[in-house]
Amino acid sequence: MSVTKEAAGAVTVLRIGNGPVNALSVGNGFVTEIGDAFAAAEADQDCAAIVIAGEGRMFCGGADIGDFDGDPASLDTLRNMQLGVENSGKPVIMAIHGVALGGGLELAMAGHYRIAQAGTKLGMPEVTLGLLPGGGGTQRLPRLTGAAAALDMMLSGKPVSAERALEIGLVDKVVEGDVVAAALALAAEALPPVRPSGALPVPADKAEAVEAARAKLRPGALSQAPARIVDCVAALSDDLASGLAVEARLFGELMASEASRGLRHVFFGERKVARIPGLSSDVRPRPIARVGVVGGGLMGTGITIALLNAGLSVTMVELREEALAKAGATIAKTIQRDVDKGRIAQDKADARLAAFTPAGSLDALGDVDLVIEAVFEDIGVKEEVFTALDRITKPEAILASNTSTLDLDAIAAFVSDPSRVVGLHFFSPANIMRLLEVVRGKATAPEVLVTAMDFAKRIGKVGVVAGVCDGFIGNRIFEEYLRQAWFLLEEGALPQQVDAAMEAWGMAMGPCRTMDLAGQDIGWAVRKRRAVEQPDRPYSGVIDRICEMGRFGQKTGKGIYLYPDGRTAEPDPEIDRLIIEYSAEIGLERRTISDEEIVSRCVLAMVNEGAHIVGEGIAYRPVDVDMIYLYGYGFPRERGGPMFHADVIGLPAVLESIRTYAAGRHGWAWEPAPLLVDLAARGETFEILNA
Ligand code: 3HC
Repeated sequence: MSVTKEAAGAVTVLRIGNGPVNALSVGNGFVTEIGDAFAAAEADQDCAAIVIAGEGRMFCGGADIGDFDGDPASLDTLRNMQLGVENSGKPVIMAIHGVALGGGLELAMAGHYRIAQAGTKLGMPEVTLGLLPGGGGTQRLPRLTGAAAALDMMLSGKPVSAERALEIGLVDKVVEGDVVAAALALAAEALPPVRPSGALPVPADKAEAVEAARAKLRPGALSQAPARIVDCVAALSDDLASGLAVEARLFGELMASEASRGLRHVFFGERKVARIPGLSSDVRPRPIARVGVVGGGLMGTGITIALLNAGLSVTMVELREEALAKAGATIAKTIQRDVDKGRIAQDKADARLAAFTPAGSLDALGDVDLVIEAVFEDIGVKEEVFTALDRITKPEAILASNTSTLDLDAIAAFVSDPSRVVGLHFFSPANIMRLLEVVRGKATAPEVLVTAMDFAKRIGKVGVVAGVCDGFIGNRIFEEYLRQAWFLLEEGALPQQVDAAMEAWGMAMGPCRTMDLAGQDIGWAVRKRRAVEQPDRPYSGVIDRICEMGRFGQKTGKGIYLYPDGRTAEPDPEIDRLIIEYSAEIGLERRTISDEEIVSRCVLAMVNEGAHIVGEGIAYRPVDVDMIYLYGYGFPRERGGPMFHADVIGLPAVLESIRTYAAGRHGWAWEPAPLLVDLAARGETFEILNA
């Protein structure tokens, strides 16, 4: 951390440097150091103007998110430092390069002139953290850009380009090349009188923009940040101080909210899961340029599209000629759709397609760096493929299986060097879903694991490492979630109630709709397998009845719901009747089930299984479970993930509920995880295991 000072004639250049993103940390004294350096420059008789620039890759990535777990008043240090800059009698020029986000952009706005290097991104991402710009942003940005443009930036959280920033009045100039040199050149010109952003008049479009933004607020949203941002803009008046006071108060409220705590957990969680505990930083990823995908089904096709979109060359091997042609056509159509929708240019699409090679034999994979197998889930078929790959591929090529149900170690045993085998479990549709479970077999080499995680990042996925067990992390937990959902149906709930309760709680989709979308036949196959493997852990048979009718969900036009237009789920009275009759048949008197019970049982089933999984070492940390649920299963980001949510409830209370369920019907499904029991007894949280 440093603030370096250089004198360039009568201009003082202050360069702020604090770690990778120059975060404005109050906690480590960095903000105070900036304030002190600024005050010294101002007091310096020889200094006529001040330039503030960022050290390293960027101007500033914002306030330090790590500070927000503390006292909201600590942010006053940041606000006062910015006021000091704004109220300076000397012209202050902000020389912005790379990135100016959140508190970083707020610092820039406290200056009197802003010059941005072309290519710089300027934004207000606080809303994505369940916060509002709390360093004067809600009061200064609308004054500079007008209320509509400011609300757009603050509510979307999306950054704008330097060129757009110039257009809306956020910056005064955009330059190519050295931005500090440009700032010095500007300082050498006769500058117009100092014009603090906070002294600009309230924008004329305030009332109209506030009304329009309010009308678009989502009722029932878990995060109150969008509504409070609009409140702050509504509070704009000629009295800057009163607007800033409203902003500071609302910021403090949001900072303490569950939604912001959850979203901040996600911010750090996404980065934490990329780190593999116990691995030396000497273990470097291998370069991956050419990839082979084996299998041209739905999964293989989705994976191929994801890889082509990331700029990789892909050879797809599919032995069935017709299936290969179909996969090729789907790939071309999907990529072309991105052009039609204006997402990419035609030449980019052409380049992506040119990087695709269809092949009818595994022999085409002799020079690839990585193979991803996505063939039928049958160990005999996997044996054939991996035995052939062992022979055909380069010895240093990584061999990955997309299996979701088979034992990765058994698959690795088909290869003479099992250390090059890893699991890459994509989620369907693989070109859309962000999650990638990276499965570490018992022989997987550290370098192979690191390469797989690096590869995940490269193709835009959130990679999370899982150990080998049936269902890995995601599906193993999902099974317990569904078990409760189906029990709830036979005990008295109807599908539409279960789904509505879970969706109101924040899940992207309730369990009934999810399985209708995934295909009820998939769950049916699992249940049939489990009936043999785990006869002492029965499922409700109610969904089997629906499957027996050939109703597999959206793809068959009917599942738990009806799909008259092929997409929209409509409750079906016939299914309601079937469920009610099923309860009678198994001798259960149906009871009224509250939405609270639905949510509690479904969510705590996830938590308990998640705790088993962490305790067994299948997941490295609770945060790995959280990220899997956010990116693969539609868990609400604002709740941070199941394990974070359990911390919010408090582990003793979680355990107490689980014990109550354990004493009830199908209590065997609620064996409390030893890790949960231990942490609750010690008054600890899952969070301590994330460090
Ligand atoms: N506070 C604390 N740490 C931060 C941070 C921040 N604002 N921004 C990034 N970091 C940390 C990351 O956690 C990561 O740490 P790690 O190496 O220990 O994992 C490290 O900096 C590097 O971050 P990235 O890996 O994300 O680096 P990239 O180069 O890929 O991206 C970035 C840089 C675009 C700045 C990206 O980090 C980012 O989007 N950061 C968050 C920006 C943000 O939300 N700013 C607003 C903060 S809230 C605020 O300012 C409130 C104010 O209004 C009062």
